Order: sequence, then C-alpha cells, then structure tokens
Amino acid sequence: MKKVGIIGVGEYLPKKVLANADLEKMVDTSDEWITTRTGIKERRLASNDEAASDLAIAAAKEALSSAKLAPEDLDLIIVATITPDMPFPSVASIVQNALSAKKAAAFDVSAACAGFVYALSTAQQFISCGVYKNALVIGSEKLSSVTDWKDRNTCVLFGDGAGACVLGEVKDGGIVATYLGCDGSNLNLLNLPAGGSRIPASHETVDQRLHYIKMNGNELFKIAVRTMTDAALTVLEKAGLKFSDIDLIIPHQANSRIIMAVAKRLGLTEDKIFLNIEKYGNMSSASTATALVEAAKEGRIKKGDIVLLDAFGAGLVWGAAVIKW
Ligand code: COA
Repeated sequence: MKKVGIIGVGEYLPKKVLANADLEKMVDTSDEWITTRTGIKERRLASNDEAASDLAIAAAKEALSSAKLAPEDLDLIIVATITPDMPFPSVASIVQNALSAKKAAAFDVSAACAGFVYALSTAQQFISCGVYKNALVIGSEKLSSVTDWKDRNTCVLFGDGAGACVLGEVKDGGIVATYLGCDGSNLNLLNLPAGGSRIPASHETVDQRLHYIKMNGNELFKIAVRTMTDAALTVLEKAGLKFSDIDLIIPHQANSRIIMAVAKRLGLTEDKIFLNIEKYGNMSSASTATALVEAAKEGRIKKGDIVLLDAFGAGLVWGAAVIKW
C-alpha cells in the first residue's frame, strides 16, 4: 500500500460578515448568549449569486496552486456537501468542468459535518491501492441557503465556506488511520425534512418552513461529546498512538463547549486544540476542512506533527483521522 498525504491546501470564505450584533436585530438573541453558549462571534455569508460550487472552485484553485499541480493532474474530485447547487448533477461535476480537470472522476459525498473526513478517507483508499495518483477533496457549504432566519435556535449557528486538500503519494507520514461510523437511529435529531423524494417541494412545504434545518441541539450536544471522544480514542488505537502523541486536534466546529468537553475527556490542553468557530460558526463539512487548511497556513502544524481530525454530524455520522504531517 502507498502512503497518502496532503500535498496542498486551500480555502475560500465569502466576504460578507454577519456578526452576532446583526443577528440581535433579526431574532430575539444577544451577542452574550451566542458567545457564551457556542463560542461564535461572527460567520460568513455567500452572496445571492454564489452557490456551493463557487466556493468549492475558489478553494480548489488555491489547493492546486499550493500543491503545484495542474487540474489535468487530478484523477479524482470528491466534494463533501449537504448544500449542493441542485440535487443533481453533483457539485463535483461542476467543479470538474470549471477546472477543466479532464481526466478526473467526480462525485459528491453526503455525510453532513463529518463529510470532509468521509471524503478524505475515500480518496485515500483510491490512492493507497494505486488506482489513482492525485485527488482533490473539498468540503463546501452554503448553509445560509437552508437556514431559517426566523429560528433563533438554529440561525445563530451556521455559516458558509469551503476548504480543500490535494491528496497524493508521500514518502513519509501521511494519513495513518481513519475511522468512520454511523448511527442512523437518531436521524430525527438533525435534518432538513422537505425537498427530497419523501416530501417533495410544494406550496405547503414552503409555508411550513420544511426546507430549513431542524435541530434538537440539546440532545445532540450530549451525543456529540460522547461520540467525538469515542471516535478519537478508536482512531488513535487504530494508528497505534497515544494521546500524548497528538500535537494538534482539529475538531468539527459546532460549538466550542462541545470541543472543550471532548478535550477535557481526552486530557488535552487548550494549546493542542484548533478553533476557528469564533470567525465562521458551523459550516458543516467545510468546518473541519477550513480548520485543517488554516492550521497548516498559520504554521500550527509542522512537519512530523501528529494531527487528529474529529468530526460529528447529522445522520448521525462521525469520522476521525490521524495524519502525520
Ligand atoms: N438566543 C437566546 N436564547 C436562545 C437562543 C438564542 N439564539 N437559542 C435558544 N435559546 C434559548 C432556548 O429557547 C432555551 O430557552 P428556555 O430555557 O426558556 O426554553 C435556552 O436558550 C436554552 O436552550 P438549549 O437548547 O438548552 O441551549 P443549549 O445550551 O443546549 O445550547 C445549542 C443550544 C444549539 C447551542 C447547543 O445545544 C448545541 O450546540 N448543540 C449541538 C449542536 C451540534 O452538535 N450539532 C451537530 C453537529 S452539526
């Protein structure tokens, strides 16, 4: 089996900033409540003419340039998203066309907030067994398009953005282990009820606001802490490593209190946790992706460091990965 590593990173965050103070004018909330309960201060919003693919393409271009590869070098494009431009074709097809990545196969992965880790692990399999050489993995979301801006329970949490990585063969290190999981028995805790084949779009579904994210945050919170802790333990065991070996944990950014609770259970100090939730809120698949990209760009990850990705989301699904940088 070949060693597979991240050889290029990129991100794109829309320019428009929506601060907690702006939300105070939209729903019955406060900067103080949002900050203390979630750790979020502001989030980015894509413009009306930007869809998930536009964010993905911008992040992909930066990742390709950082990998010093041309689009024609790509064999595979996987986009993790739950807010595709349209039900079909895939965002990955749109990205493939925009980049002119002529020889790349392309498909989307739907695994909500764990989507980027699912996509990373999938791409790794193709390269490690020698089927493909280079893959582009993107987490891209325009969650503002499915956020109910009248529901204070959810609208303060989400944002838009994209992160991308190019994967290729490496001599040392790379992805050491991954662990993916699912518990479909709790899918009612977080979903978007209408617009699919179960409840197709109609005037009634629009009137009932069924095209927006519905979430039981309180219940999810407890499961998230438990599941992310277990996922971290499992992937470390698969990697044959101990917690003291971790240089940086890059968790899904749903709530800083969830992240701190997981870190406490794992015995990790604050300097070993990467956070960007304050700036962006929860961007589902794009959260882990941009956090990894920013950690690399800011020099928080050095060559040889052990990085742990740990994500959890709707499904319920989880994904963790250990990477030697
Ligand atoms: N502003 C002010 N008050 C708010 C509010 C807001 N934006 N949103 C909710 N509240 C209120 C609630 O109405 C409730 O009031 P009540 O006690 O009078 O009924 C109170 O705050 C507490 O609500 P609760 O839901 O218990 O808060 P919480 O501490 O659980 O925090 C979340 C809410 C959503 C921030 C938190 O539960 C969370 O982050 N959940 C996990 C999300 C997650 O992991 N998602 C999966 C991955 S994407």
